[in-house]
Amino acid sequence: MLPCRFLTCAIAACFVIAMPQAQVALAQPAKPVSFINDVAPILKENCFACHDAKKKSGKFDMTSFEKLLAGGVNGEPIVPGKPEASEFHGLMVSADQRRMPPRDKGEAVPKEQAAIVAQWIKEGAKLDAGMDAKADLVKELRIRFKPPVPPKEYPFPAIVNALAFTPDNKQLVVGGHHELTVWDFATGKLVKRIYTRSERAYGLAFLPDGKLAVAGGRPGQEGDVRIYDIEAKGKDQDGVEILDGVNDKKVLVKHLFDVEDSVLCLAVSADGKILAAGGCDRAVRVFDLSEGLEKAKLDQVVENHADWVLGVAIIADGKYLLTAGRDKTAKVWDLKGKDSVVTFPEHQNIVYGVAGKADGSAGFSVGADRQIRTWKPNGEGKQVRAVGGHGNEVFKIVMNPKQPMLATSSADKTVRLWNADNLAAGKTLSGLNDFVYAVCFSPEGDLVAGGSYDGGVVVWKVSDGSTVKAFNASPGYVAKTDPTPPKK
Ligand code: HEC
Repeated sequence: MLPCRFLTCAIAACFVIAMPQAQVALAQPAKPVSFINDVAPILKENCFACHDAKKKSGKFDMTSFEKLLAGGVNGEPIVPGKPEASEFHGLMVSADQRRMPPRDKGEAVPKEQAAIVAQWIKEGAKLDAGMDAKADLVKELRIRFKPPVPPKEYPFPAIVNALAFTPDNKQLVVGGHHELTVWDFATGKLVKRIYTRSERAYGLAFLPDGKLAVAGGRPGQEGDVRIYDIEAKGKDQDGVEILDGVNDKKVLVKHLFDVEDSVLCLAVSADGKILAAGGCDRAVRVFDLSEGLEKAKLDQVVENHADWVLGVAIIADGKYLLTAGRDKTAKVWDLKGKDSVVTFPEHQNIVYGVAGKADGSAGFSVGADRQIRTWKPNGEGKQVRAVGGHGNEVFKIVMNPKQPMLATSSADKTVRLWNADNLAAGKTLSGLNDFVYAVCFSPEGDLVAGGSYDGGVVVWKVSDGSTVKAFNASPGYVAKTDPTPPKK
């Protein structure tokens, strides 16, 4: 199974607890309760799982205001002005066996939240002025979401899910919490912070013109791919440059797409003309960037996996799209012929990552079975070789851009190097103290970086495995921890 800590559970790292709007309403009783700002978020959290357009438990879909008032099999559940006569509220606070959410299915709605719903009904169960009663509430809530401004100093470390060296080989971009952070890795100094709408970055790739493509999301809420100019001018905050990638159009240069859940992986072809991104909606969206960012267009949506797409790579001059799936397979899609050409089933467990040789002669995949497996992208999905070595699940595999070398990262807290021609084991790189979710090579291929669950980042030299720098990439958190990992 997918370890809970991977991708889904935000608890430990999600420290910026957005103050529920509902509490704000309570603190200001004079202001009437807003349906969309105060009530809808409560319904989304407690009810939509069973009462949306898909599930409709009791034939009751509450994801639009109109449908909410209409109710289910028993008819209108809300009597405006009368919370005590409204089944809708009654079921939330019911002490009887029949409660909502059903007793065996979830916790009761917190008292303060039920009180807000009661107050809203008492005030007439009105919709906010200017809103369409037919509007999809999930979408309306998503539009209204305002990303929090990242704190100057993180009280807790943020998971590192993605890393990328800058094209000049001098800095490292790290996915933070609603931001990207840029580090001078020779000194371990934070130089730049780029605020993002996305809570987490899961995939980073520089385009040939130096712009940075970022795949990310907010677990279970939204996902997107946006492109940033991290060289744009920012504001100084105590020696660190702050770029507003949420609102500043000079920083956020392109918004390629967004979807209802996280986008988990991203790849750009060697010539920068194709960008592919996949995620929780099981699809990989492939964009044609050959006429520049301005004219970027969606070329195809590849729905080739039965579950989340966890990894992507583009090889053979844009001919092959390699994908890794939670459905326990690695696959090859012919981007030109628009056809599925290989399904590789040997992992028999979650496949987290894929990579391939640039010339298209070999594909590689890693997963929960702890194996690195290689196969032919143009063959029949037959395994050529498999090797073990990692002591736990393997999350990512990346190809060195300058030499036949692979790097893998694992839940065993290490990054390992491999010969891409024969899968002979190279160096095992240690220094990280938790699951290593992210790994990448520098553009020159001389350095490799790993990032872990506890915010740790280490940069190693490929040639001898020596550590260039180890630091915690959660801003301000550095001061409270020992940046050098304990020596064993
Ligand atoms: C885990 C699933 C689940 C969740 C979560 C859930 N419900 Fe239900 N709900 C049901 C099922 C199943 C029924 C139909 C059986 C019944 O009426 O008891 C139902 C029926 C209802 C009905 C009656 C509809 C009708 O016309 O018969 C109302 C009202 C209702 N739910 C309100 C809520 C509210 C409000 C919430 C959130 C606070 C909520 N439910 C959360 C499963 C759920």
